[in-house]
Formats: sequence, structure tokens, C-alpha cells
Amino acid sequence: MRSIRSERISAGVGAVSTTCNGGLGERWLRAQPDKDVQVRSRRASVLGVGDPRSCVGRPRVQRVRISADTHQHLEEHRRFDSLFHHTDCSADSSMSNDRICLVDSALLEAFGLHPDILHLNHGAFGVAPVAVRQAAATWRERAERNPHRFNRVEVPGLVAAARERAAAFLGIDPSRAAWVRNVSEGVSAVLGSMTLRPGDELVISTHGYGAVRKALNHHAARAGARVVEAAFPVGAEDEAVVSAYAAACSFRTRLIVVDRITSPTATVVPVAAVAAAAGARVLVDAAHAPGQLPDDIAALGADHWIGNLHKWAYTPRGSAIMWSRPGANVTPTVLSWQLEDGYAASFDYPGTWDYAGWLAAADGLAYWVALGGWDAVGRLAGLATDGQQRVAEALGVTLDGLPATPAPTMRLIPLPEGTLTSRDQISPLYEALSGQGVEVAPVWFDGAGYLRIAAAPYNTPDDYKRLAVIVRRLLNSK
Ligand SMILES: Cc1ncc(COP(=O)(O)O)c(C=O)c1O
Repeated sequence: MRSIRSERISAGVGAVSTTCNGGLGERWLRAQPDKDVQVRSRRASVLGVGDPRSCVGRPRVQRVRISADTHQHLEEHRRFDSLFHHTDCSADSSMSNDRICLVDSALLEAFGLHPDILHLNHGAFGVAPVAVRQAAATWRERAERNPHRFNRVEVPGLVAAARERAAAFLGIDPSRAAWVRNVSEGVSAVLGSMTLRPGDELVISTHGYGAVRKALNHHAARAGARVVEAAFPVGAEDEAVVSAYAAACSFRTRLIVVDRITSPTATVVPVAAVAAAAGARVLVDAAHAPGQLPDDIAALGADHWIGNLHKWAYTPRGSAIMWSRPGANVTPTVLSWQLEDGYAASFDYPGTWDYAGWLAAADGLAYWVALGGWDAVGRLAGLATDGQQRVAEALGVTLDGLPATPAPTMRLIPLPEGTLTSRDQISPLYEALSGQGVEVAPVWFDGAGYLRIAAAPYNTPDDYKRLAVIVRRLLNSK
């Protein structure tokens, strides 16, 4: 079968990755600026044209490591397909036993995202690259081929090994790293492990995540305790943030929830300073931190830290790690066979479940490394900064007063005055943007409206240009 795809290359050179004989081939194209180029492939899929600016002078084929376990299963099930090139480059590998495969450079397709939609909200739910989804599917298939033996005999060792890999990625002791499916589950486990009494207080900031606040409210209401908010404005300096938490704490405080990166305002909170000033148990909501901030988790001074790997570390959705300092033990929310096996192992087996996501998590983490690790995060931060400026200029708004330390890959852009006048208008604005094919997060905070944008590996400078045009058009038509 042949496929022909027409692409417009706006600069002079572009790289095209095509599949051939089950592996990846790469062809370089020269084209006149703004002339269409036709790409012909002997197989059905042409994986795409790379960003011409970053193509110049270097091949754009990305390398991704897959874990030795997954590699073996891919081989067993002959699941190598268009995204994998069966090449052993392990001499290059910093992770022993891992194979390196080639993955297509057209990252929008490598992340399996709908090409007609402008994806500018990676932070909300993340997305695992296609190769990682395939690794998970391979595990799922293996489980289904002999469900009894897989679940009865193999799952415990495999899940523990996968946890050790996740702990290594995060730089924490694997015996203090517990699998949870998401931050919500980890928070529920910590709250469920506490005995709250009437008059006790739980602290969260005004920037805290709504679902986490609901969990605090629920447990507080059951015990006759109450939730106290630490309030600080968008753009508050670190000292003001620490003071706000200190002011919200009292001798009744039993737990302080501190977001490492806040959801509505994309702010990096100085967790270590807050923890140092706090006189109570500290839980770090690190939903956005793995793959975005190179934290020394054990050194933050917290009691518990819970991070989603499925946002910025590209693992399958439903893979998160909870760390608790030695001595700060937590009972899993789901009580099952491994309940008495110690902090980490007691979370390994939440009953009969689909473990494929956890088992393929190492592949997502390896993908993060292969895409460039912290250097890539630095590049994405630059993309976010430029995108934020471009959209702000187009909307005629100032960036003054925004977070002093913004999240590397998520930023706020104030909406022009009058665009949003109440929280109720968030959903209609979201629907209007989504209807135009734009996925971005409108935010209402402290009486003002914002857009929260993200910069993920599949985003390009052009995405923010398009966002600016669409938002301006939408606002003008109101
Ligand atoms: C700061 C913060 N905390 C917690 C969560 C909840 O994450 P999950 O739904 O994966 O439990 C999110 C989700 O985006 C978040 O942004």
C-alpha cells in the first residue's frame, strides 16, 4: 500500500520519518519556503513532518528506551510495529539492560494526539506516547493469555520491580515509595490513616486543588474538625506564601497540604520553606512535579509527597507514587492481600485490577529521558515563556503580577478585563474554545480570569500563534 501525504514546510528544510520494513526510515526533504511537499511511503503510514526549525542540521529521529521486560514481551508477541525500530543500541544506554528503540520525531503523532486539535493543556490529564500505550497494551495482552498464572504468580514481583524503577526515577528509597493510581488516592489514604478529633484543623491554600479540598472537607466534617485556608494572591513572593501558611496554622493543625505546583495558578510553591515553618504534618501535593521539577523529595522536609507520573513523566494514566518519610506510615485505601507487607508493598496489590499501566510506567519514564530529560524541560520552559508573551501581546494584556516562580511548562495569561466576570463563565468559555478545536484551561481566581497554557513536547511556537488568533477572534465576536 502507498500513502501520500501533503505537508507544507514553512522553512527550507524538513525531516520526514517514514516506516519501512517494520522499522523507521528517515528522509530529508528540501523545499522552497511555503511550497507543498509530497511525501511518498511504501507503507501505509507516513508519520509526519518535523518542526523545520529544529530539523536543520540534525536528524530528528528520537530514541526511546524501553525496559528489558517490555522488550522481551514485544518480541514474544511480535508487537514491533511502525513506531519501533528493532535496534539494540545498549552501548549508548545509561540504563543497563535497556534496549534503545527509535521513535518517530513527529511528536504530535508519537503522542497519538488528534492532529486537528490544538492541545495546550497537557497538565490536566497528561498523555502517554503511543509507544508507551503499546507497551501497556502488551502487558495487558500477556495478562489475558494466562490470567490465572499472571495474576496469581507474576503480578507481585512485576509490580514491585516497576515500583523500584519509578522510585529510581524520582530519586527515592523504593521501600518508601508506594504505588497509588493518582494524587486523589494518595490524599485519601493519608486522610483515612489519621484519627481526626473535633476542633482539629486541616490547612490547604486558596490555590489548592478542588478535589483535594473536597477530601479534606469530607474528613473534617466527619470528625467535627475544620478546614482552614492559607490565602495568598497570584504573584505573591515566596516569603508571603510562607507567611500565609504560617498564619493559617495553629496548635490545632493536624495536616498541611502544600501544592508543589498549583493547579489554577501554575505557581511553584516553596515547599521546603513552608515545611520548615510548619508545626504539623505536611503533605505535598506534587501532582505536576514528576518530570517537571528536579526535586530531592526526601529533603523537602515533608511527611508525605504524592506525584502523578502520568502528567509530565509520560507514563500511562493511573500511575502515581506516594512517598512517606520513614515512620510516617499510611494504610492503603484499598485493603487487600499485601496489607501487612510493609509501607510500599501494602499498596502494590489493590485487588484484582489491570496492572498494565504500572508495568509500562518505566517505558514512559524512559521516554521522558529519551526526549531529553531536564534539558528538554528547559526547552519547553522557553517555549512556554515565548508562547505566553505572544498570546499576551495579541490580547493586549500585561504579564505583570503573574507568579514570581511559574511552573516550567505551565503559564497563566490574564484575559482582557470583562472577558470573564464570574466563575460561572468558565465552562461556557471552555466550550467556546473547545468548539474551535482549542484545548486550553480557562481559570477563575481571586476575581480575575486567565488562560492556563502548557508546553509539552508536541507543542510548537506556531501553536501559541494559533491560540492568539482564535482567542482574539472569539473575544471580538462577543
Ligand atoms: C495540584 C493537583 N492536585 C491533585 C490533582 C488530582 O490529580 P488526580 O486526578 O490524578 O488524582 C491535580 C490534577 O490535575 C492537580 O492539578
